[in-house]
Amino acid sequence: MFFELGLALAALHFGVPLGYYAVAKRWLRKDWGIKEDGGYRPKVSVIIPTYNEAEHIAQRLENVAQSYPRDKLEVVVIDGASTDGTAEIAEKWAEKAGVDVKVVREERREGKAKSLNRALGLATGEVVVIADADALWAPDALRRAVAKLADPSVGAVSCVKRPIGGPGIEEGYRGFYNALRVAESKAWSTPIFHGELAAFKREALEAVGGFPTDIGADDSHAATLIALRGLRAIVADDVLCMETVPEEGYHAWRIRRAQHLIQHFAKAVRLLRKAPRPFRVVLAAEAYLHLVNPWLLLTAVALLLASAFMGNILATAFLGTGALMLLYKPYRTWIVAQIYLVAASVRNLRTKEIVWNKQIKRGRRRC
Ligand code: GDD
Ligand code: MN
Repeated sequence: MFFELGLALAALHFGVPLGYYAVAKRWLRKDWGIKEDGGYRPKVSVIIPTYNEAEHIAQRLENVAQSYPRDKLEVVVIDGASTDGTAEIAEKWAEKAGVDVKVVREERREGKAKSLNRALGLATGEVVVIADADALWAPDALRRAVAKLADPSVGAVSCVKRPIGGPGIEEGYRGFYNALRVAESKAWSTPIFHGELAAFKREALEAVGGFPTDIGADDSHAATLIALRGLRAIVADDVLCMETVPEEGYHAWRIRRAQHLIQHFAKAVRLLRKAPRPFRVVLAAEAYLHLVNPWLLLTAVALLLASAFMGNILATAFLGTGALMLLYKPYRTWIVAQIYLVAASVRNLRTKEIVWNKQIKRGRRRC
């Protein structure tokens, strides 16, 4: 009995995502159905939220400044009371930059989303772009994102990500999830955005009330609300960001991000009925994959273990095969992601991590 149930849950755990990826592969071959305009040059406000980014901020400002015509660019650095001199470095950079840069210092650190909303109130651009300080954009990333916003059906655009540093597993994970985000975006919209580059039509962002401050994944949630209101929110395959991956505290980093996505989906799934049809499938599938599916694996393993202890040879064989398959990297990457999601759900009961510990990124260790 344990054995049959365990097997059925395991089949469901692996079967549903495999089915979804088969569908996603078909989406990947679709046309975008978007009319880009490479000459569209609205005023852009780039918001850089910072907390102790002294190591990255100057290079990041340089990177942003080179990404768009300077007379159409406004940069707002919103600093959450850094203690490492981030704001001073940004101010010094602003003095000689020849770019419109505002540096706003908050008295207390209150979390990224609150800062973003404060900065949104100061930003004057038609397009508002979030740019995490510890990431970099490919030189044409912003222009390509803006070109897509020229289409009236598009409300928000985010990037695909290439990891800098971190363990090998991060790369496998990234490649796979980048493809999935793009597939969902081609279908219509994706519910997962990236703070490394998240570009919004200002009007669309204001219509959903800016960034939510009660959950962690502010960027993904705002994008999803925009998609629920009928404009597309897409991750584009020609908009590329590089993000630094922590080498110490990698697990804690992955768990915190998983916590934020779980918070986002738990909230977004309640609006599922409002989703435009093609987005409903995507949102339902992603909510299921983040909220439910990891628990099926855990339960299946527990049932099979119980069955194996009771002498069921087949259960032992299944568990043994499952363990052996961990040598196969994509499978291992998947299993690890499930463990992060389960750990994150449990952790969410204790803390939402709205204000999180800073992870040590590559390079910082040498200081
Ligand atoms: N002003 C302000 N206040 N900025 C902050 C705060 C804060 O309390 N906390 C973090 N930041 C800044 C960081 O300095 C960085 O520029 C950006 O917000 C993202 O923080 P990271 O610490 O680099 O987070 P991450 O890359 O792991 O987080 C990713 O996932 C989050 C959701 O889980 C990013 O994509 C985030 O944008 C996203 O919200
Ligand atoms: Mn980051």
